[in-house]
Amino acid sequence: MAPVIYPTTNFTATEQLCLERGEGIYVFDSDGNKYIEGLAGLWCTSLGYSNTEVMDAITEQLHKLPFSHTFGGKTHKPIMELAEKLKAMVPVEDAYIFFGNSGSDANDTHYKMLRYYFNAIGKPEKRKIITRERGYHGVTVAAGSLTSLPANLAHFDAPLEALSILRADSPHYYTARQGNETEAQFVERILKNLEDQILAEDPDTIAAMIVEPITGASGVIVPPEGYYEGLQALLRKYGILVWADEVICGFGRTGADFGCTTMGIKPDLMTFAKQLSSAYFPISASIIPGWMYEAMINQTNEVGVFGHGYTYSGHPAACAAALKTLEIYERDNLFEHAADVGAYLQAQLREIFTDHPLVGEVRGKGLIAALELVSNKTTGASFDKGAAGATAQKLCQDNGLILRAVAGNAVALCPPLIITKAEVDEMLTRLKTAIDASYDALSDQGLIAS
Ligand SMILES: Cc1ncc(COP(=O)(O)O)c(C=O)c1O
Repeated sequence: MAPVIYPTTNFTATEQLCLERGEGIYVFDSDGNKYIEGLAGLWCTSLGYSNTEVMDAITEQLHKLPFSHTFGGKTHKPIMELAEKLKAMVPVEDAYIFFGNSGSDANDTHYKMLRYYFNAIGKPEKRKIITRERGYHGVTVAAGSLTSLPANLAHFDAPLEALSILRADSPHYYTARQGNETEAQFVERILKNLEDQILAEDPDTIAAMIVEPITGASGVIVPPEGYYEGLQALLRKYGILVWADEVICGFGRTGADFGCTTMGIKPDLMTFAKQLSSAYFPISASIIPGWMYEAMINQTNEVGVFGHGYTYSGHPAACAAALKTLEIYERDNLFEHAADVGAYLQAQLREIFTDHPLVGEVRGKGLIAALELVSNKTTGASFDKGAAGATAQKLCQDNGLILRAVAGNAVALCPPLIITKAEVDEMLTRLKTAIDASYDALSDQGLIAS
């Protein structure tokens, strides 16, 4: 076996799928088997696997200027163009953009910029960040501590105490409701918990709250109606900034430009990566409002520089990839396409799976969705150690569909945005076969409640 330390992998796992090439929404393994990439890689290959326009834009840029850093007085056209383009797109007031290479480092950048900003305005005590249970924000030191999934914390001694991270309730009604609580009562309870927590901590010590508008890795949680409205009112009341992690939701995924648009969030800060370049070249963006940037200017003068930056911040080929990707989104109306095909996907999923004995909840918006697999449809009881998720993921793959089991027993769907309705049908036919087979396999093991 090649001496690779594989990311987010059980080192005792022996089965690996070696992919060789891709075309549209399909990928092919080294034996020539064809699969639908139902998770767009890792929620990222929005334009599918054979977009020559993006490839050509990258190649052209590599021929012209394969690298230029952007430290201390250096710039280049693609980074300036991309920043202007994003500024015009995002719902952030007079946006300023810091470019990085991954969603994780972009969240670390925000974490540091928040400290920098509050130090600059003479409020160094405003440093705590609220994150949510089940949130996923990456794996670097700060982002990894903002993440709340057990596997990302255990044995890394995370969260790091010094980062002052607070954890709020997960907004997942299906798994976190109490007794006969209605959705409205659930929202009221968890927002009350949050307000109590804010008051106990002292609002003047809390800088921001980070949220994925719709979560990904924690199981595609779509918070109930009224949640974000109440949440934002609370955060504004106590002077806490709203930080939207759009690493998965950004650029059409939820059937609108941003998850914030779909969920009615007015963010102060935004994080992007993945679909910003359709994953054809690594790039991320940490976006702050102009008033935050302005406040940081004097401090950089005092120290000499804004002492934060990556060698590859604004890599010219990455910027070229992002510019072409954004141009294609606009030219081909891909956000509208995602809304249209997404509505079809959501309707079909509910039609096929709502009454399935293995499925407790069908959820999602636009072109992101999940099935919650349960051992008892009446009580919603789950399976130990992600047994159903692992079984379904394997059986999907055996049926020519690559999906991902997340949060134990949820199966997530997040196909490339270019998927057609006919391809959705093909994907769901394969999914149904795999979910039926999973039910049989789990029943044979005595894991389904009778
Ligand atoms: C919401 C969210 N934030 C941040 C990240 C981290 O991004 P990356 O894996 O590029 O570091 C992810 C990755 O899946 C994500 O889903």
